[in-house]
Amino acid sequence: MRIGVIGAGYVGTITGACLADHGHNIICIDIDQQKVDAINKQKSPFYEKGLSVLLKRNEIKATTEYTQAIPNAEIIFICVGTPTKKDNTQDLTHIKNACEQIGKNLQKNQTIVVKSSVVPGTTEDVILPLLEKYSEMREGNDFHIAVNPEFLQEGTAIENFLHPDRIIIGCKNKKSKKTLETLYKDFTCPKLFTSLTAAEMIKYASNAFLSTKISFINEIGNICKKLNIDTYEVAEGMGYDQRIGRAFLNAGIGWGGSCFPKDVKALITKAKELGETPRILESVLQVNQEQPQKPLDLLKKHIDIVKGKEIGILGASFKPETDDIRESRSIPIIKELLKEQVTVKIYDPKAMDNLKKIFPTISYCSPEEVLDSDAVLILTDWEEFEHLNYKDKVVIDGRKIEKARKESKIYEGVCW
Ligand code: UDX
Repeated sequence: MRIGVIGAGYVGTITGACLADHGHNIICIDIDQQKVDAINKQKSPFYEKGLSVLLKRNEIKATTEYTQAIPNAEIIFICVGTPTKKDNTQDLTHIKNACEQIGKNLQKNQTIVVKSSVVPGTTEDVILPLLEKYSEMREGNDFHIAVNPEFLQEGTAIENFLHPDRIIIGCKNKKSKKTLETLYKDFTCPKLFTSLTAAEMIKYASNAFLSTKISFINEIGNICKKLNIDTYEVAEGMGYDQRIGRAFLNAGIGWGGSCFPKDVKALITKAKELGETPRILESVLQVNQEQPQKPLDLLKKHIDIVKGKEIGILGASFKPETDDIRESRSIPIIKELLKEQVTVKIYDPKAMDNLKKIFPTISYCSPEEVLDSDAVLILTDWEEFEHLNYKDKVVIDGRKIEKARKESKIYEGVCW
């Protein structure tokens, strides 16, 4: 099929590359010339495992011009960002701009698919009216709309796209259902067809639930720590219960990234707008905001963090296998350490360049130099941290690195 993808960011580029690998003809549209140039040179505009291979194997085109991409497409995916505003509502600027440009170039019988995460009701209340206004056409008669949320985890996004647990398709009529059925015919996973708003909510409810699982185990972990219980043994024991499952029960310093914080906040705001009090979601967020304080408290238990002391940090990214530091738990922790005027030395395999933009003055070092500090905090569970030498070290571990637990002179896990 001929597919236009609006937004060559993380979701758009992965969607384009994976659908191209399924034999579809892809053209990406982005306002950022650098991203467009990279894709046209078959290079990945950002790091994601396996993406450059797909881009090399399948030639996908990119342009800054809607006029080049929209008129020929059978399906148009909207994959632009939906950041959170200061008041915790969603910033729909990119969505609105995309709707205007798509609308102005829309042809009869095209299907527009919303892949960007938008709070329930946005497609019906904002996207559809804008498309109808700018195209002067009617959904159902002249063009069609669907919501098809993504469930891509950074680091495994290609695998997640090509072998998903499920595909969710929200649609309004048989035509868009049929188009999306054809698009995903080679995917063998369950496909669930829902209303537009249910599809939007499935994305938010899924991310909110996963965040809840983590905050829940962190709360249990904080209790376990006081009782001298290893929360990882508790998680294993719980996880065998098929109703619970072991996934997303790794206790530690909490969740970050580009999705969980933004989506939980947006859902809380939406709930309040509707007159609901989202008590669970508020607590999920609060536990996550407080969790970075735990390693700092443990650090203070073992050394006086005073001016002149050196604190080493292993890990800056919000999780392993990515250079992404958005909402990483390392950020509030480093801020607190700097307030105490200690010398911060940090190592991360991929995220140091990004961290330098926020903390230009801390020392960026090798892992060995980081370990040569008065105490070391482990903030990301990079696999390579399982191969360092922790002998004689004081280690406060936020992510459960076994070798550090076994070897360190003084070792404290945040929840174990
Ligand atoms: C998430 C969702 O998993 C994905 O479906 C959605 O589309 C986008 O958001 P991602 O942001 O890539 O994906 O990260 P994920 O692997 O889910 O981890 C999020 C955060 O939770 C990380 O900071 C991670 O360290 C933390 N985490 C995860 C835990 O603290 N404990 C766990 O058990 C699992």
